[in-house]
Amino acid sequence: MDLFKAAMTVRENAYAPYSNFQVGAAIRTTSGAIYTGCNVENVAYPEGTCAEAGAIAAMIAAGETEIKEILVVAGGPSKVSPCGGCRQKISEFSQANTPVYMADLAGDIEEITIGGLLPAGFDKEHLEAK
Ligand code: THU
Repeated sequence: MDLFKAAMTVRENAYAPYSNFQVGAAIRTTSGAIYTGCNVENVAYPEGTCAEAGAIAAMIAAGETEIKEILVVAGGPSKVSPCGGCRQKISEFSQANTPVYMADLAGDIEEITIGGLLPAGFDKEHLEAK
């Protein structure tokens, strides 16, 4: 799967000296283009950013806003699952049924949707005036 390859490649550049947990993310947009990101940690721990945030930033910088599918890969004993903040970030540019693939380093991939990861999430409708 090309998304897995792209995420594995960008993961090599992850800057994670504090957690030693390198993550790669790859987004395919509705145009077919692929955007990637890796986690970037900081000595001031809360200033670190997740791989998904990097991939979304690359997508937005390229002028795109529609995620068709997203894959996240990391090591560890089980497949990586996007953190709560990243679920919200992915959701901003997805549909409820947009696939989220969670991969391990061996290429074993689990599929879920962003709606499955973030049920009853905060969305644009909540901002509409009554
Ligand atoms: N991390 C990600 O980049 N994406 C995820 O989905 C989970 C966590 C990063 C944040 C931090 O740099 C490291 O993994 C450990 O939490």
